[in-house]
Amino acid sequence: MAHLDAYNRPISYLRISVTDRCNLRCVYCMPPEGVPWRPHEDILRYEEIETVVRAAAELGISKVRLTGGEPLVRLGLADLVRALARIPGIDDLAITTNGILLARYAEELAQAGLHRVNVSLDTLRPERFRRITRLGRLEDVLAGMEAARQADLDPIKINTVVIRGMNDDEVVDFARQTREAAWNVRFIELMPVGNGGLLDGQWEERAVTAREIRERIEAALGGLEAAKMRAGSGPARYYRLPGARGTLGFITPISEHFCYQCNRLRLTADGQLRPCLLSDAELDLRTPLRQGATVAEIKGLLLEGIAHKPMQHHIGIGDCERPENRVMSEIGG
Ligand code: 5AD
Ligand code: SF4
Repeated sequence: MAHLDAYNRPISYLRISVTDRCNLRCVYCMPPEGVPWRPHEDILRYEEIETVVRAAAELGISKVRLTGGEPLVRLGLADLVRALARIPGIDDLAITTNGILLARYAEELAQAGLHRVNVSLDTLRPERFRRITRLGRLEDVLAGMEAARQADLDPIKINTVVIRGMNDDEVVDFARQTREAAWNVRFIELMPVGNGGLLDGQWEERAVTAREIRERIEAALGGLEAAKMRAGSGPARYYRLPGARGTLGFITPISEHFCYQCNRLRLTADGQLRPCLLSDAELDLRTPLRQGATVAEIKGLLLEGIAHKPMQHHIGIGDCERPENRVMSEIGG
């Protein structure tokens, strides 16, 4: 059974950033030259991550997601997946990837015991994809999604951050795709997480609410029906166009925060436990891990993190604090 935090939320989900490095430079995430990577010795080793997940599993955490940066740029990721998939109690193991390397690794990851992938994709236009990511090719991502489908890594979810003046004119195109393809597109409201990217200081004018996205889709394509998602639905609400194969989801960290049902902890690539994405409070796990902490000792620290999970964030509610100590690529979304 999952542990309850101070606000009675069962904590059942751990997101682990396995690297702060990335093979793209999305304009909203990073400056063109990238951000300085942390040195290798700061990054948790696979055995250390495994220890944390063993401790988490003993506390009733059953779902683990590997994120980045870009998780697939870390060497031997399938080895980590294999180790984590064997841990009793972990019954949902997923990654969030930009998809660039997915065609190369999908089959190997599935063999290693990965269950699902989420792919971040903000545009369906090749030229624009290049502009937003600065380095990437859309066709690589599409090939990656196809490879994931063939490897039965499903349901595949697509994460689309909607940014005014950048890709908000494509929400109807994404919705149209779900008619023919079994895509599960989730539109994510832009969060004001500091990053040195192109959009710093423009959050208010760039953010688009889920309500606006939905209105634009319904105006063009007709009303949406409520839909159910098979696995790990998390905070998204799902809909579909009548008769469509795929679904449309909305993730609303800003317009309708879902903190009251938040079930997750996060672990940064350098081994800091972060009870809330949008709060800078962290608990160091790396030092004790390097001093040889046992699974039982790490369990104690995880319980401390669970006990200190804040009730909610305050972004979008007038004048508010914003997280400042980390860029998004270090936390992994
Ligand atoms: N707001 C919302 N989502 C973001 N992501 C990165 N930066 C932001 C932001 N400021 C998304 C990525 C990826 C996920 C891990 O987080 O696009 O889908
Ligand atoms: Fe890389 Fe994701 Fe940041 Fe894009 S948003 S630069 S894919 S970490």
